[in-house]
Amino acid sequence: MPPKGSSWRRPPEEIRKLQKEKRIYWGKDGNAEFPVEKKFLSEVKGGVVPQTWWPYDFAGSTRNASAEMKGIFEGEKTFDTPKPEKIIQRVLEIATADGDLVLDSFAGSGTTGAVAHKMGRRWIMVELGEHIHTHIIPRLRKVVDGEDTGGATKARAGKAAADSVTTPLRLA
Ligand SMILES: C[S@@+](CC[C@H](N)C(=O)[O-])C[C@H]1O[C@@H](n2cnc3c(N)ncnc32)[C@H](O)[C@@H]1O
Repeated sequence: MPPKGSSWRRPPEEIRKLQKEKRIYWGKDGNAEFPVEKKFLSEVKGGVVPQTWWPYDFAGSTRNASAEMKGIFEGEKTFDTPKPEKIIQRVLEIATADGDLVLDSFAGSGTTGAVAHKMGRRWIMVELGEHIHTHIIPRLRKVVDGEDTGGATKARAGKAAADSVTTPLRLA
């Protein structure tokens, strides 16, 4: 029976049918508090709902991020807290489509713009630190010129968004 204060989400006979088809999952040990309906990937239309827990093999790690940065800046230690391109790629896959405009108004090491470009999104980045000149612009030039082969480059087979430019705009 559903727990106190809750009710059947589907008619009981439907739940029984799903149970019979072994489509009700009660956790690995069969004693979970709530049942979950099993769906096979072949039956899911329009992709899978994103999970809230993103392990490193799905979203990358800070170690990946440092390696990506070293790859771009030829071994130099470049930024203290870079994010892996993969995590931004996951975010952009969920939140945007081809050709969308991605704004990162705290551009940091430029990961968001780099990934957006690699994924065929247009982008605007804003940064007040000097690293816009030492890191972001050189990084994005490499991405636009197709010279950054690491990180999320495979996301769109190296096709860059043609209308992105790496000319800094200064606001008075
Ligand atoms: C943690 S980083 C952001 C990381 C980045 N979004 C990424 O894709 O990895 C934060 C950045 O915001 C910049 N920043 C802070 N205040 C700002 C402001 N008012 N306008 C523009 N950039 C700012 C800092 O200089 C720093 O580089």
